[in-house]
Parts: sequence; structure tokens; C-alpha cells
Amino acid sequence: MSASEAVTDALRELHARFAGVREGRQADYIPELTRSDPDDFGLALVSMDGHSYSAGAADTPFTLQSVSKPFVYALALASLGLDEVSRWVGAEPSGEAFNAISLEPGTGRPANAMVNAGAIVTTALVPDSREQPAFGRILTCLSRFAGRKLDVDEDVHGSEAATGDRNRALAYLIRSTGTLPVDPVAAVDTYFRQCAVRATAVDLAVMAATLAYGGVNPVTGERVVSPEVAAQVLAVMATCGMYDSSGDWLLRVGLPAKSGVSGGLLAAGPARFGLAAYSPLLDASGTSVRGHAALGALSERLGLHLMKNPALPGSTVTLVTTADVLPSAPSGRLARALHERVGVVAAQGALDFTAAERVLYALDESGSEDADPVILDLREVTGADSDALALLHAGLSRLAREGRRAAVVDPGDRLGPPDLVRERTGQDLPRFGSREEAAEQCARAVAGPG
Ligand code: DON
Repeated sequence: MSASEAVTDALRELHARFAGVREGRQADYIPELTRSDPDDFGLALVSMDGHSYSAGAADTPFTLQSVSKPFVYALALASLGLDEVSRWVGAEPSGEAFNAISLEPGTGRPANAMVNAGAIVTTALVPDSREQPAFGRILTCLSRFAGRKLDVDEDVHGSEAATGDRNRALAYLIRSTGTLPVDPVAAVDTYFRQCAVRATAVDLAVMAATLAYGGVNPVTGERVVSPEVAAQVLAVMATCGMYDSSGDWLLRVGLPAKSGVSGGLLAAGPARFGLAAYSPLLDASGTSVRGHAALGALSERLGLHLMKNPALPGSTVTLVTTADVLPSAPSGRLARALHERVGVVAAQGALDFTAAERVLYALDESGSEDADPVILDLREVTGADSDALALLHAGLSRLAREGRRAAVVDPGDRLGPPDLVRERTGQDLPRFGSREEAAEQCARAVAGPG
């Protein structure tokens, strides 16, 4: 027993709540998929620290089917870039079923990479050479997202290859419009193979967590794709991942997600969690009925809706004051008066653009006179992204131009190396190891020479 078992309990609770749902049917247009157990139901959650939680049949293997699409789209984007990929496949929700002839009027370009038409084109875009065949690249990529070596269910592949005329027809149709760069039969066969890659609900949660974590697999620590590609894939999943119910899903569940006809379903809570479900009974749009219900409830319970992301007030700036109230302030009247003119701002945590704005606003609020110095204490800051740093440097540079001296308590160089800070702020910002030392020096500066 452990404290974090409470997370597993939450999953078990949802599992118990929805395990009795009997609505929906297994997909039978790929005959081999009817061999799955309709009672199977697994849930999994993986955090950004790579902690993994699961309930039910979370280790039961099934084939990815359409869940493969966003990850192969990621591979195409990583190989060719968004502009080139977008020449071949769009990013507009089609409002149609997954197997519809969703081709843009005029260009013939498939609507997006989540519907079959777009996914076949995306697969065809993956570089293919004798040394590195496209499917090898795809399998390696899917495996890196999952953090373990995945394999192909040959029976499911054979079953879809034998019955998949609609996809082959779609591929020929797309080629006739000029938007399929390779042989239709070969493209569709590679696509069928990626759909037949086997994984578990836990694997799906790791794959979703990798997208949620900006392209780094939180379990293996490996960077699989760039943060830009991860964001692009999540954006298309949010608008197109659930086909003609994408709008309703985004409205109610509020997460980028992808379903597959074998019953797999994953959703990504950006910077929070990867979630997944497996249950083969599907609704009319090809989504797992229990999976939909469980991930919807989980999103609500954990407050994961993308549009419900309240900033926590006061979580960045921990102190806005003047140096005379610091415990280290001297007791003499004159020295105290000098310390009173020194502003102090302390920040904590990881700084992004939003947090950096709070810090700059606090700098403005601290101290009494514009010309008085201000100390920015960054000891409790754990990191700052490049946007936050650029904004902080620009703010400090502005302060200097306006004649307000600033000093930083920054033994960990959170503001960046001194050379960079000098270049960006146009000054040699005094740096101190402690707040007391900084307060002492700034008070002296207020007093002036002598
Ligand atoms: O191409 C097909 O029809 C299947 N291999 C995959 C479709 C699918 O998973 C649709 N998603 N819910």
C-alpha cells in the first residue's frame, strides 16, 4: 500500500462505474477484430514524471488502428516539416466519418491526417529507402513513443489486407487528384501494417504522455519529437482526432484525443497526463463506448479540460516588499530609512511568459520612487523557458533605461549566464548570493558615495 495508490483507486472506481456498460459493438469490417473479448476494459494514466497507474485490462494487447495516425503524422512532420506535409494533407475537421471520401474540393487534398484518406497520404510521406524502409521507421517511431519495442499482429494485418478495398479505393481516388506521391497499393499496405501494430492501454497512455510532455517520453526520458511537432500533432488531434464528434468531444471532454476501431482510445492533457482506455465495444463513430465515458469522467474529475486552466494567483511572486522589513534589516534609523527605499521581489517555480509578466509587474509595484533600486530574488525559481527569459531581460533592460537600478539574487544563474544577461539587458546586473547581501549593497548605493 502507498499514498499514490489513491490515483489507482480513482481509476479502479471509474473502471467499476463503467465496466457494466454493454452498449456498442465490436468492429467487424476487419473480421479478425471480432476475436477480441468484448468484456475487456482497461484504463491507464501516465504522469509527466513517468509515474504509471492502471486498472482492469490495461496490459491486454490490441492493435492500434487509427490510434497510430497521430504518431505517424508526427513522424511525417518531423521528417518533412509542417509546410511540406501541409501541401499534401490539410488540417481542417472534416465533420465526416473516419472512412469518408474527405477530399478538399478543388485540390483533392485529404481534409486532415486523422481520417483514413489523410492517414494514407501521411504514411506515404514517410521517407522510404532500401536501407530504411518506411514501415521500419514507423515501427521504430511508434516504439519510441511507447517506450518499448512494439510488434505487428500479423493476423489482424492479413485480415484488413484481405478486406480493405475501401481504403485501396480511397488511395486510388486520392492519387487521381495528384495528392498521393506513391503507389496506392504499397501506401495502403504500409498503412494497414501501422494499424496492426500491437500495444496495451498502458502503452497508449505513455504515447499520449509523450505528446503531452512536449515530445519527450516521460518514462524513458528520450526525446521522440520536437516540442513544435508535439504541439502540431496535439492541435490536429484536438480538432480532428474524434472525426465527426471532434467538436462535441472538445466541448465536453476538452482534450486532444484519438480513437481506434479495435477499442483503443487515448487523450493527452498537455503538461499534465497521458490517459488511455481499451474496450472493444464501439459507438457509431468508431469510438470505444466505455473508453469515451471513462476518459470523459476522468477529465472532469482531474480538471483536465483544456479551456479550464485557471492561473493560480500568487503562485509565482512570493514577496513584494521593501528591504527594511526583511529580518536582516538594521535597526538604526538612518540605515532603516535607506533600506526602506530598496524594493524586494521574490519569485518561485518554473517561469513561463505568464509567470514572467507577473514578476515584471511586481517589480513595478515594489519600492516607492522610480529611481530607487530593486532586488529580484530568484533563488526559488526552478527554471525559465526562453520566452520568460526574453521578457525578463527586456523588462530589466527597460528598468535600467528608465534609471532604476536592479540587482539579482541568482546563485543558480536562472536569468542565464552573465554574458547573455549583459548582452540582453545592456548592463552588468549586480548579482548576489543572498538577499541580505543584496539589500546591504543596494542600501549603500541609495546612500551614495561617502
Ligand atoms: O483503416 C481502417 O479502417 C482501420 N485500419 C482503422 C480505422 C479506425 O481505427 C477508425 N477509428 N476509430
